[in-house]
Amino acid sequence: MCGIIGYTGKLDALPIIMEGLQRMEYRGYDSAGVALIENGKLELRRSLGKIIELKKILENETFSAKTGLGHTRWATHGRPSEDNAHPHTDCKGKFVVVHNGIIENYYDLKQDLIKKGHVFKSETDTEVVAHLLEENHSGDLLKTVKKTVESLQGAYALGIMHIDDPETLIATCNASPLIIGKNGSGLFLASDITALLEHSKDLYFLENGEVCVLKNEKIEFFNSDLESIKKETTHIDWNPVMAQKQGYKHYMLKEIFEQPSAISETLMSRINWDDASIYLDEIEGFDEDFMKNISRIYLVACGTAWHACLVGKYLIEKRSPFIAHVDYSHEFRYRNPKVDDKTLMICVSQSGETADTIAALEEGKKRGAKILSICNVLGSTVARKSDGVLYTRAGPEISVASTKAFTTQLVSLFMISIYLGRISGTIDKAKGIKMLNDIVEIPDLLEKTLEMNNDLKKLAGRYIYKQDFLFLARGINYPIALEGALKLKEISYIHAEGYPAGEMKHGPIALIDQDMPVVILAPKNHLLDKTLTNLQEVKARGGETIVFCQDKSEVDKYNVDHIFEVPETIHDLTPIVMTIPMQLLAYHIADQRGTDLDQPRNLAKSVTVE
Ligand code: G6P
Repeated sequence: MCGIIGYTGKLDALPIIMEGLQRMEYRGYDSAGVALIENGKLELRRSLGKIIELKKILENETFSAKTGLGHTRWATHGRPSEDNAHPHTDCKGKFVVVHNGIIENYYDLKQDLIKKGHVFKSETDTEVVAHLLEENHSGDLLKTVKKTVESLQGAYALGIMHIDDPETLIATCNASPLIIGKNGSGLFLASDITALLEHSKDLYFLENGEVCVLKNEKIEFFNSDLESIKKETTHIDWNPVMAQKQGYKHYMLKEIFEQPSAISETLMSRINWDDASIYLDEIEGFDEDFMKNISRIYLVACGTAWHACLVGKYLIEKRSPFIAHVDYSHEFRYRNPKVDDKTLMICVSQSGETADTIAALEEGKKRGAKILSICNVLGSTVARKSDGVLYTRAGPEISVASTKAFTTQLVSLFMISIYLGRISGTIDKAKGIKMLNDIVEIPDLLEKTLEMNNDLKKLAGRYIYKQDFLFLARGINYPIALEGALKLKEISYIHAEGYPAGEMKHGPIALIDQDMPVVILAPKNHLLDKTLTNLQEVKARGGETIVFCQDKSEVDKYNVDHIFEVPETIHDLTPIVMTIPMQLLAYHIADQRGTDLDQPRNLAKSVTVE
């Protein structure tokens, strides 16, 4: 959701900024821009569209500026256009601002500034920041920034520079991520770790209200009262190569194929064979009494991570004595959830920066809950605000459509369910050992499942002109039907719905005819017969059936159009295996439709606005 970057140092700023923008493009890609101060003159270049368009504008220009700011945008206020692209400036063109977030009180601020004679050039909320800086400018940059942010409401990560101080960058944030880095060649600010990995792996995470000055090879941090503070770096052990395509056509395909190794990382050193349990060092700080006496568990997330929570509910309620509720983050925080100091809240977020999830976490915390989060990005806001964090260790996920983050979240929730079952005595040692054996097999099973790739690629060709799809499943695989439908609509723009198979007769059945492909997940379990009855209901109405099962012989007799076998595993792990063909099918349909599937229209990877 918008990416900002800044550099000041010994090297030419432009290539560094462009490279960083390229790495953050998945955060937003409707327009982009850079600002440099070249020989005392502000050079602003902005373009509508992706970074490639900005590159075209810059192609025949050379700049030697050593300081600059850049931005890639996901529009909130004001349509995508060159005028609305960042960086923004004040009336005199002296202050330069890049912003990620939303200034909620921008309208009132803007009216006030207009009355004072300021002339606005864009429809954005961000531009008010540039004019406020101009209005408040006292000659002291730091004090000017302090005074300015005091009048802002909302979420912001800001990168600021001033033409009269061309080697200084100022960074500040509230409820939007901002990361600061340093190496021998210079100082950096960015919205995202991936933009800085090339330059440094020891990074500072700016907290709400903190201000940072990057100048003359030195980084200084201040609290909101401008008192100097010391901050520690966090070491990020991601390798920059992990954030590259490595020969795959798309990041999404690469990330789909990384799932076996990503899951091995998630499991690494967490299996406790001696106790037939899971080492959850992350919750060591949680009192054992608290864990045994949990009154209820809330699983809270958005998007794909919410689907993981749905699976988590099945797992936790099956394996432990606890009641688990699942909420969308944005719903949870605005109702009256029954949270007390015996509540465990599990917040699931790949990025750890989803604004709604952060707000839900804060609400839960305020009401007394203990927060355990499942995150992929180290040091992210959700991780920092939680009482304990289970990192999925999936490595950087660049594709907007989430894949390896999802399956590693499922594995994490499976581990948590074993842990809860073991501490509460609902899983005995023998069962625990069996479950551990089952989960450690998953990476190998996924390797086998990925062998379906070519068959699904062939099948995908049949569907590129379809307009609707239905995904059906029961029980613990119902969330995977939702995830299959979400993947397909996100990247192929084909309308798709996921339904519990038993619910089909209450509405969606009316849609079924020969133009409706229906994907049915039919693993071998106690629900198989019922699912196969639903399959026949689809067939009877002419729908085209695509079935993913574990034993063809049980399904073959129903005259199914396309059957695929996935490797066998225990019932509770079938969602992980079933996810792979959902991802591959969506990928190949989208690829053959020719969509920009790593960066689908209107979406962003990290949604830092509410
Ligand atoms: C966006 C992304 C989804 C993601 C959701 C939640 O909508 O496009 O892929 O599932 O945000 O993101 P999080 O980082 O909190 O898991």
